[in-house]
Amino acid sequence: MFREFKARKATRSPQPALTVVKEEETPTVSQEELARRESERKREAEHLEIKAFLHNRLLDQLNLAMIDKIEEERLRGEIGKLVMEALQEQGRPMRGEDLKTLVNELMHEVLGLGPLEPLLEDATVNDILVNGHRNVYVERGGVLERVPARFRDERHLLRIIDKIVSRVGRRIDESQPWVDARLEDGSRVNAIVRPCAIDGPSLSIRKFAKDPLTLEKLLASGSLNTSAAALLRALVMARMNILISGGTGSGKTTMLNALSSFISSRERIVTIEDAAELQLQQDHVLRMETRPASPNGTGAVHQRDLVRNALRMRPDRIIVGEVRGPEAFDMLQAMNTGHDGSMTTVHANSTRDALSRVEQMVQMGGMELPHAVIRATIASAIHFVVQLSRLSDGSRRVMAISEITGMEGDIVTMQDIFVYRRLGKDEEGRILGRFTPTGIRPRCYDSLVAAGVDVSEFQFTQDRSNA
Ligand SMILES: Nc1ncnc2c1ncn2[C@@H]1O[C@H](COP(=O)(O)OP(=O)(O)OP(=O)(O)O)[C@@H](O)[C@H]1O
Ligand SMILES: [Mg+2]
Repeated sequence: MFREFKARKATRSPQPALTVVKEEETPTVSQEELARRESERKREAEHLEIKAFLHNRLLDQLNLAMIDKIEEERLRGEIGKLVMEALQEQGRPMRGEDLKTLVNELMHEVLGLGPLEPLLEDATVNDILVNGHRNVYVERGGVLERVPARFRDERHLLRIIDKIVSRVGRRIDESQPWVDARLEDGSRVNAIVRPCAIDGPSLSIRKFAKDPLTLEKLLASGSLNTSAAALLRALVMARMNILISGGTGSGKTTMLNALSSFISSRERIVTIEDAAELQLQQDHVLRMETRPASPNGTGAVHQRDLVRNALRMRPDRIIVGEVRGPEAFDMLQAMNTGHDGSMTTVHANSTRDALSRVEQMVQMGGMELPHAVIRATIASAIHFVVQLSRLSDGSRRVMAISEITGMEGDIVTMQDIFVYRRLGKDEEGRILGRFTPTGIRPRCYDSLVAAGVDVSEFQFTQDRSNA
C-alpha cells in the first residue's frame, strides 16, 4: 500500500523518472574525535578486565552457598569491602560513582544475569536479543536498537546462559544446542549455542509484561478503534471461536491475553502453551505446559497430548497459546465438539494465509484427510480470524477482523468486517491509517444479540463509523 502511495507521488513529481541519487557524504572524523573514541574503547576494555578479575576473586572469596541467605544490603557491603581491598592491592583505588557502578555490576554477576540485569529492570525494554557476546539489541516501543551492554567473552555469555537454563532444570551443550526456558519472573527465553549458532551463543528474551496490555490500553495506543474493540469483546462473550494471526512479535499473545479478560469467571478455562506466557485473570484456570524430551530422548509431552488430555478435563474453553503443529487438528475437533469460545494464535501474514497454515498443520499429523474435509472442519470450527501486524514504525495494529462464513466448493469463504487502511506516513515516519468497517454486517450478528452481549458500541456500517 505504501509502495503504491510512493509510486503515485513519484509520477506527479516534475523530476525525470530516472534520477541519480546522490550518496550521502561520509562525514569526516576529526583527529580529536578519533582519539576520544580510542580512549573510550581503552577505558571500556580496562573496565571489563578489572571486572573479570574482581569477579573471579569474589567467586574465590565469597561463600557462594551463603549468598542466597544473606540480605542484599549486607552482601553489597561485603562486596564493596572486598572490591576496595582488591583495588588497593592492585594500586588502582576507586571511589564515588565509579566504585558504585562497579559494585552494582558485580552484584549482578554474583546474584543475577550479569549485563542483562539492567535491561531486565528497564520497563521500557520489551525484548532483549543477544547475538554473540559483543552485540546486544533491545526492542523499545516496537523498534530495535543496539545497546552498549556486552559480555566479556563467549565464556561469560555461556555462563549466563547456563545459569538461566539450569535454574529451570534444563541443559544446553553441543549435543542439545538450543533450549526454551523461562526466567524467574516469567520472561520467555530461547538460547542457542554452537555448533548451531555459527557466530556464537545467542539469546532471545521476551520480557514478561508486569503490567499486561489490556484491550483498553491497546485501544488507547491506537492498535484498534472503539468499534473493533467492541466487536472483539462481543465475540469472546458470545463464545465465538477465534484464531489470532500475525507475524513474529506482532502482538498475538498480548491480544489473546487481552481478549481472555472477557471470559466469564464462571467458566473453566484450560490453557496449553509451549512456554507459559498467558496471564489470565480468572480464578478457574488450569495451566498446562509442554515438556521437552529428557536426555535419553524419552518423556516429551507435546501440545497435541495436552489438547487431547484437556478434553477429558471438562473445560468450558480451551486456549492454546500458539498452534504450531498437529495439535491444530485436535484443537479444531475441540472447537467443533462443544468447546465454543476457544481461542488460539497462529503465525501467518494474512487471514487467508492463517487458514492455509492451519490446513498444513493438520496435514502434519499424518492423517490422510482430503483437502475438502480439512477445510470443511476449519470452516465450521473457526468463526473469526483477527489479523495483527507490526508495522515498519514499530506500532502494532489489528489489520483485519474477518468472519468465516462457510464453504464454496472446496474453498473456505470469509468476509472482512473491519480492516485497517494505511494512508501513508507522517514527517516522523509514523504510519498513518484508519480502521474502517467494511460495511458488511457479520452473519453472527443475531447470535451476538441472542447471546445477550452488548453490541451498542459496535458500528459496522461505514456511514455511522467514527473511525
Ligand atoms: N498493541 C501493542 N502495542 C504496543 N506493544 C505491544 C502491542 N502488542 C504487543 N506489544 C508488545 O510487543 C511484544 C510482542 O508481543 P507478543 O508477545 O504478544 O507478540 P507475539 O506475536 O505473540 O510474538 P511471538 O511471535 O514471538 O510469539 C511484547 O513485548 C508486547 O508487550
Ligand atoms: Mg506469542
